Amino acid sequence: MTINYNIALIGFGNVNRTLAEVIRTTGSTIARDLGFTLTVTAITDLRFGALVDAGGIDLDAVLALAPGETFVGLGGTAECDNETVIRTAPADIIAEATFTNPNNGQPALDHVRWALAAGRSVCTTNKGPAAFAARELRELARQNGVRFEYEGAVMSGTPVLRLAAGPLRGVGMRGFSGILNGTSNYILGRLEAGMGQAEAIREAQERGYAEANPTADIGGSDVRLKVMVLVEALFGVVLAPADIPLTGITGITPELVAAAAAQGTKWKLIGQAVRGEDGRVTASVAPQMLGSDHPLAGITGVTNALMFDTDFLGQVTISGPGAGRRETAYALLSDIIAIHDSRA
Ligand SMILES: NC(=O)c1ccc[n+]([C@@H]2O[C@H](COP(=O)([O-])OP(=O)(O)OC[C@H]3O[C@@H](n4cnc5c(N)ncnc54)[C@H](OP(=O)(O)O)[C@@H]3O)[C@@H](O)[C@H]2O)c1
Repeated sequence: MTINYNIALIGFGNVNRTLAEVIRTTGSTIARDLGFTLTVTAITDLRFGALVDAGGIDLDAVLALAPGETFVGLGGTAECDNETVIRTAPADIIAEATFTNPNNGQPALDHVRWALAAGRSVCTTNKGPAAFAARELRELARQNGVRFEYEGAVMSGTPVLRLAAGPLRGVGMRGFSGILNGTSNYILGRLEAGMGQAEAIREAQERGYAEANPTADIGGSDVRLKVMVLVEALFGVVLAPADIPLTGITGITPELVAAAAAQGTKWKLIGQAVRGEDGRVTASVAPQMLGSDHPLAGITGVTNALMFDTDFLGQVTISGPGAGRRETAYALLSDIIAIHDSRA
């Protein structure tokens, strides 16, 4: 028998809209290949308001809403009362995709707490809850017999957390180094091509790779949150932002790039962590000059990559997209599959 999961979408921007589109257009393929159907029964968003329909929201209608319109015309409200919807809507799974707060993870952290406490599983692409409270949230999920899944918080749909927790379990993880921000990697590549930093940032913005305010990308704080998520997931060690020295790429000039090239090296923004013999973890985010034989040196453009340093296998590297609406919606789908598998 095909199981149905009712889903509530919290935040209706790029990622959750795309998840809704995927459910609308490929729902029958999901049912055939994965053995479950998905029904969106609630949506909340600061712009659109809140809409709940236990029978299933008309996705054609919500996806057709024009900018400035709200859910009022569809029988919803213009205000979004996240707490009430998360605690009371007829939903098995909450897909949290509101904005990432790099300081404390709020209010997304509360969204996840409310959902888990109400016995609903959570999938999220939001780095905040995972970076600041993954352990607490997993424990809350366990107490309530549900799941907290956040694969998309590190490399979007590229499955680094499940790779580490699944096939690489027991491999003797010693550390990792990663290119975990596509925007900064793209900008460094443009500096190699002779561009100045301001011009490279402008181009990245025009191509939709960089936000209007690119501080989190070029300053490295986005990578630092991802390092926090990885360190907890791989080593069970909780680090605060202040524990991770941070240098972004703002100081990397075309002259430094040319000097690195003259030595046969490339600048890359590296988030990394190493676990010592005593179990202590040392982590950092900083630009590094990598020789051409380094597994991360050839990662170009907006692609991300993570190299695990392991006892049994030596270095294992995975590369793939680290952003993109469809790639990140897939991360949510992969979380839903994990939730389904855990029930089975
Ligand atoms: N897009 C990607 O490639 C990608 C990749 C990996 C991870 N992520 C993460 O996934 C999350 C969603 O990304 P996105 O690209 O979909 O962002 P987005 O397009 O900005 O969508 C977020 C939506 O949530 C709404 N929102 C913000 N705070 C809310 C709240 N408290 N309650 C209800 N709605 C709220 C926003 O409304 P306003 O616009 O009015 O604030 C916006 O409509 C972010 O945390 C992001 O860091 C994204």
